[in-house]
Amino acid sequence: MSYPRTQAPSGVNSQPWAFVAVQDPATKKFLQEKYHQGFRERLGDVSIEQLPTDTSIGRSMRAAVELAENMHEAPLLLIVCGKRDWPYQTLLENRTGKAPPNYGAIYPCVQNILLACRALGLGASLTTTHRIHEAEIAERFGVPDEYGLVVLIPIGYPKGKFGPITRIPAPKLTHYDHWGNLTPPT
Ligand SMILES: Cc1cc2nc3c(=O)[nH]c(=O)nc-3n(C[C@H](O)[C@H](O)[C@H](O)COP(=O)(O)O)c2cc1C
Repeated sequence: MSYPRTQAPSGVNSQPWAFVAVQDPATKKFLQEKYHQGFRERLGDVSIEQLPTDTSIGRSMRAAVELAENMHEAPLLLIVCGKRDWPYQTLLENRTGKAPPNYGAIYPCVQNILLACRALGLGASLTTTHRIHEAEIAERFGVPDEYGLVVLIPIGYPKGKFGPITRIPAPKLTHYDHWGNLTPPT
C-alpha cells in the first residue's frame, strides 16, 4: 500500500511537521471561537459594516473579519504543527525556556499546502491569530509540548471571487549585483 507523502524541504531533512485535521463541527466551532477571540484582542471589535469597500486594506479587513466570524463553516480546519527546535544562531547560553517551533521548515510546508489547494481549486487561507490562545488549543487537541501550532488553514471550495492575486512586481524588489541597482544587466 502506498501512502501520500509530505514533500517540503527542511534543515537536515528533519521534517518537523505534523498536522491536526479538524472536521468535527463542535471542534471547528471551538477553534473558530478561540480564533475570533484572539482576532478581537488583536484588532478590536470591528464589524464588517464599519469597513470600507473602496480601499484595498478595507476589503482585506472585511475578508479577515468574515473569516474570523465564519471559519467553522469551512469543511476542514488544518493546523500545521512544528516541532520546537532552537535556531542554530541562538547561542547555547541563550537557550532558555521552550524553543520556538522550526518556522523555517514549517513555512515551506505551509506554502506547498496552499499551492496544492489552489491547483485543486480549493480556497485556503494562511492564518496565525489562533496563536494568541495557542496553549488552550494545544491542550484541547492533546498536542504535546514539543510542538507549536504554527498555522491554521481553513480549506474549502470558495463561494466568491477566486481570481489571481496582486503583489508588488518583482522588478521593483530585485537588486542586481548590489543593493539599490534595480536595472537588470544587459
Ligand atoms: C505569517 C502570516 C500570518 C498571517 N496571519 C493571518 C491571520 O491570522 N488572519 C488572516 O486572515 N490572514 C493572515 N495571513 C494572510 C494575509 O493577511 C494575506 O496573505 C494578505 O493579506 C494578502 O491577502 P491575499 O493572500 O488574500 O491576497 C497571514 C499571512 C502570513 C504570511
